[in-house]
Amino acid sequence: MAPSPASLPLPGSCLLLLLLFSALLLQSSASQELRHPPARIGVIGAGIGGTSAAYFLRQKFGKDVSIDVFERGDVGGRLATIDLEGRLYEAGGAVIHPLNLHMKHFVQELGLSVPKGRDGLMGIYNGEEFVFEESSWTIWNYVKMLWNYGLNALRMSMWVEEVLDKFISIYRYQAHDYAFSSSEALLHALGGTPFIQMLNQTIDESMQKAGFSQKFIREIVTPVMRVNYGQGVGINGFVGAVSLAGAESGLWSVEGGNKLVCVGLLYASKAQPIPGTVISVEETTRPRGRSGETMKLYEVTYNSTSGVTSDLYDIILIATPLHRKIANITFRNFKPPIPEFSKPYQQIIATFVHGNINTSFFGYPDPSKFQLSGIFTMENPKLFVNSIGIVSPVENNTKAAEGSPVWKVFSPQPLTKEQLNLLFSSYDLVESKKWLAYPHYSPPEQCPPLVIHDRMYYVNSIECLASAMEMSAISAKNAALLAYNRWYERMDKIDQEDLHEKLKTEL
Ligand SMILES: Cc1cc2nc3c(=O)[nH]c(=O)nc-3n(C[C@H](O)[C@H](O)[C@H](O)COP(=O)(O)OP(=O)(O)OC[C@H]3O[C@@H](n4cnc5c(N)ncnc54)[C@H](O)[C@@H]3O)c2cc1C
Ligand SMILES: *[C@@H]1O[C@H](CO)[C@@H](O)[C@H](O)[C@H]1NC(C)=O
Ligand SMILES: *[C@@H]1O[C@H](CO)[C@@H](O)[C@H](O)[C@H]1NC(C)=O
Ligand SMILES: *[C@@H]1O[C@H](CO)[C@@H](O)[C@H](O)[C@H]1NC(C)=O
Ligand SMILES: *[C@@H]1O[C@H](CO)[C@@H](O)[C@H](O)[C@H]1NC(C)=O
Ligand SMILES: *[C@@H]1O[C@H](CO)[C@@H](O)[C@H](O)[C@H]1NC(C)=O
Repeated sequence: MAPSPASLPLPGSCLLLLLLFSALLLQSSASQELRHPPARIGVIGAGIGGTSAAYFLRQKFGKDVSIDVFERGDVGGRLATIDLEGRLYEAGGAVIHPLNLHMKHFVQELGLSVPKGRDGLMGIYNGEEFVFEESSWTIWNYVKMLWNYGLNALRMSMWVEEVLDKFISIYRYQAHDYAFSSSEALLHALGGTPFIQMLNQTIDESMQKAGFSQKFIREIVTPVMRVNYGQGVGINGFVGAVSLAGAESGLWSVEGGNKLVCVGLLYASKAQPIPGTVISVEETTRPRGRSGETMKLYEVTYNSTSGVTSDLYDIILIATPLHRKIANITFRNFKPPIPEFSKPYQQIIATFVHGNINTSFFGYPDPSKFQLSGIFTMENPKLFVNSIGIVSPVENNTKAAEGSPVWKVFSPQPLTKEQLNLLFSSYDLVESKKWLAYPHYSPPEQCPPLVIHDRMYYVNSIECLASAMEMSAISAKNAALLAYNRWYERMDKIDQEDLHEKLKTEL
C-alpha cells in the first residue's frame, strides 16, 4: 500500500523540497556562469549595416565587450558622395523615407541635420515621348492622373500604406528585444503569409491581382522600379512596395552626406575601426583558463597595411553582401562546409554631368518649353538610361546653383561619348561611379540564412526582401538582438509567434 502523503514524516519532505530548490538554484547559477559575456565581437563591413550593428551591439552587450569593425574601403560603403568641382553629391543611397525610424533616430542622436528638399517637376518618357508630365499647378496634376489612370494612383498609395503600416511593427518588436532567426521569419512576423507571398511573386503579379491596370503598371510602376532598383516589374512584390514607398513625398537625406550617419555610429559605438580586407573566417578552439576546458572562437584573417594578420572573436557579424565580386570571404574548415549563397547583384552606373540636357532628344526642340528636372523611363530596348534628374549638392544646397545644373543619370552600362552627346547639348564635366548596387531580384525569392553558423550572423541576408538603408539598419538591430538572445539563451525572445497579441497584454 502506498503511503498517503500525510503519512510521510514531515521533516523528510521538507528536506526533499530544500534539495530540489538548491538543485534548481545551483543549475541556474551554473548556466549563468557558463554564460560569461563575450570578450570580443567582430563586424565585417562599415556601411550602414555594419556601423549600426556596432551601435546596437554596444547597447545590448554593454561597455566591456570589445567590438572591432573591419572596413576595406571608405566608411559608408554604398552610402558615398562623389566630388564635382569641389561640391559633393550622393552617388549611392540617396533618399530616406519619413517612416524609416532607425535612420531618423540616428540622425537625431548624432546631432546631424536634414536640409530642405527642393522638389522639381517629373516626367515619364517611353523612348519616343512623354506619357506623363507634371506641371507646377498641383491640381492639374491630380486631374491628369485621374484622367489617365482613374483611381489607380490613389489606390496605390493606400496599398503601399497598408504594407508600411504592418511593417512598422518591427520597431515595437525590436524595442522589446524580440529577434528573428531568418529574414523570412522577420517578414512573416510583420505581415504573415501575405507578406511571404509577396516574395514569391513579382510586383507586376501582386498589383495585377490587387486590380491595378496594366497601363498604370507599365507607365507609372515600372519607371519607379527602374529608378530605384534598376530593374522592371519582375522584381518581387515586397521590394516593389518598398520601391513605391520610395517615390512618395517627404523623402529626406542628411546634410553633408548620408554616410555621415555611418561615421557617427561607428564613433558612438566606441568600436575599433580596422582598415583592412577580410580574407577568411575559420572556426578554432582555444583553451579557456587553467581548467583544460576549451572554447570555440572565430579566427578572422585580414589584409591591412601591416600585412596579413589574424584575430579571434566570440561572435561575428557579416555586414556586406557575400558576393565574390564584393566581399570574397572564404569560410575555412567548417564542418559541414558553409555553402555559397551569393546572389547576382545588379550593376548600376551613376553618371554625373554638369551641363545642359538636350531637350530635342526628349521631343522639345525649344529648350525654354522644357520644365522637367526629373525624367523616369518606361521599358524600351532602345533606351540606354533608367533615369535622369537634377541633383543638389549635399552641403549648402540652398545656395542658388550657378549656370547649368548637375544631372545624375542611372544606366545599366557606362555611357559612351555618343550617348552623352545625345543626352546633353553641352557639358563640361562628367564623373561616374559603378556599383554592384542591390540584388538582381527574381521571385520566388530564397533568402540566404541569417545565422550562418553558431555565433556568426549575416546582416545582409535582409537584402533579399529589399535593399535599402533602413532595411540594413533593421537587420543590424535584429542580428545584434539575435546574437545577444542566443548568447544568453533567452529563447523566449526569438521567433515568437503572435507578437502583436503578446505585446498588447504585455503593456
Ligand atoms: C546607386 C544606389 C542608389 C541607392 N538608393 C537608395 C536610396 O535612395 N535609399 C535607400 O534607402 N537605399 C538606397 N540604396 C541601397 C542602399 O545604399 C544599401 O541598401 C545600403 O547602403 C547597404 O548598406 P550595407 O551596410 O548593408 O552594405 P554596404 O554599404 O555595401 O557595406 C558593406 C561594406 O563592407 C565592406 N567590405 C566588403 N567586403 C569586405 C571585406 N572582405 N573586408 C572588409 N570590408 C569589406 C565594403 O567596403 C562596404 O563598405 C541605393 C544603392 C545604390 C548602389
Ligand atoms: C513560396 O515559395 C516557396 C518555394 O519557392 C514555397 O516553399 C513557399 O511555400 C511559398 N510560400 C507561399 C506563402 O506561397
Ligand atoms: C594584401 O594587400 C597587398 C597590398 O594592398 C597585396 O599586394 C596583397 O596581394 C594582399 N594579400 C592578400 C592575401 O590578399
Ligand atoms: C577570391 O579570393 C580567392 C583567394 O582567397 C581568389 O583565389 C579568388 O580569385 C578571389 N575571387 C575574386 C572574384 O576576386
Ligand atoms: C540632340 O538630340 C537630337 C535628337 O535626338 C539629335 O539629333 C542631336 O544630335 C542631339 N545633340 C545635340 C547636341 O543637339
Ligand atoms: C558651406 O557653408 C559653410 C558656411 O557657410 C562653409 O563653411 C562651407 O565651406 C560650405 N561648404 C561648401 C562645400 O561650400
